[in-house]
Amino acid sequence: MSLLEDAQAVRVDLGARSYNVVIGSGLLAEAGRRIAPLAPRKRVFIVTDVNVAENHLDALHGGLDAAGLSSVTTVLPPGEQTKSFAGLQNVCEWLIDQRVERRDLVVAFGGGVIGDLAGFSAGIVKRGVDFVQIPTTLLSQVDSSVGGKTAIDTSAGKNLVGLFYQPRLVLADLDVLGTLPVREMMAGYAETVKYGLIDMADFFAWCEGAGARVVAGDRAALAKAVRVAVEAKARIVASDEREGGARALLNLGHTFAHALETSAGHGAALLHGEAVAVGLALAFALSARMGLCDPAEAARVRRHLEAMGYVTDLRKLPGGPYNAEAMLSHMAQDKKTESGALTFILARGVGAAFVQKGVDPGAVRALLEAELA
Ligand SMILES: NC(=O)c1ccc[n+]([C@@H]2O[C@H](COP(=O)([O-])OP(=O)(O)OC[C@H]3O[C@@H](n4cnc5c(N)ncnc54)[C@H](O)[C@@H]3O)[C@@H](O)[C@H]2O)c1
Ligand SMILES: [Zn+2]
Repeated sequence: MSLLEDAQAVRVDLGARSYNVVIGSGLLAEAGRRIAPLAPRKRVFIVTDVNVAENHLDALHGGLDAAGLSSVTTVLPPGEQTKSFAGLQNVCEWLIDQRVERRDLVVAFGGGVIGDLAGFSAGIVKRGVDFVQIPTTLLSQVDSSVGGKTAIDTSAGKNLVGLFYQPRLVLADLDVLGTLPVREMMAGYAETVKYGLIDMADFFAWCEGAGARVVAGDRAALAKAVRVAVEAKARIVASDEREGGARALLNLGHTFAHALETSAGHGAALLHGEAVAVGLALAFALSARMGLCDPAEAARVRRHLEAMGYVTDLRKLPGGPYNAEAMLSHMAQDKKTESGALTFILARGVGAAFVQKGVDPGAVRALLEAELA
């Protein structure tokens, strides 16, 4: 079987803005052939970071050359700090210096930081240049490269300035994950298992058995996990592109996670995915505490996360010490907060998440105090 036949495509169905997410091996080598139909001028503008460039840029250049595409590349420092106004200015001015035109193509080659920043830049330079995502972390393959959310951070918080701007194509090459540090694989797995908890109980059950193989990079397990996750994200985004309803379910665990990340100072101590893992456990614990979910289901979720090696005990979580009152005040700043009432994604059980507005902060405080006692 050729590599091409091996790869699977998941369609993100958004009318005129529809696109494919191709998942498979050897996609960097094929990138030129797959991208060429989208690049009439046969010239692409690659935005990447130092770590990705070091490990994979030659392979991407080779794939583009093979199809007669020329490219220019900007290599940015790795890390969340790059997703800033300064980073945005940098990329936009680079694209303009390189004489990007409306019908050119920007290639976001990296994790979620590069995807969010390059996507946003593509969305505003010359009022919009097409872009392609080549996600290189598990998190970006299962989550951030699909769905068209782009943003930078401001001093007031994460992702506060951005656009909905869909890519024309996503190439998720499983091979590139081979160089990703285990800790980053784990961070991406938290977002992967999340889809099972939202509305696919059978996928969560599969994860309970296969999760360790996914994180270890077992090809078959990884391929299935990425495909199922991307299908789930594509389905949810297609039903609600701009997060008026169902797309909010993707924030399962995230109200807690964002409060933890803010408390921890958005540094290397606590990665987003690590915060999401605890957040998933806490969302189920809160659901159980509010009498919405069988406590055995909440225990099952926490058991899987702990078996995978995540810290779900707030007293031991890196980046602390955490404090219930401070976390509640961070939650009050959450984008989902409407007129002061807290909105949470809660669950009636594994695979049965729902949006709950008007959650009593007292219930959240009681949970956090119990977890921190
Ligand atoms: N747009 C969305 O819908 C969405 C969804 C979730 C998260 N995000 C955003 O995504 C960002 C996090 O993304 P991330 O976890 O991919 O982080 P990241 O982009 O910072 O990548 C993590 C680290 O891995 C390195 N790296 C990337 N690919 C590698 C590879 N193949 N081999 C070796 N090292 C590699 C990077 O240089 C970086 O140091 C956050 O800014 C978050 O806000 C966006
Ligand atoms: Zn997330």
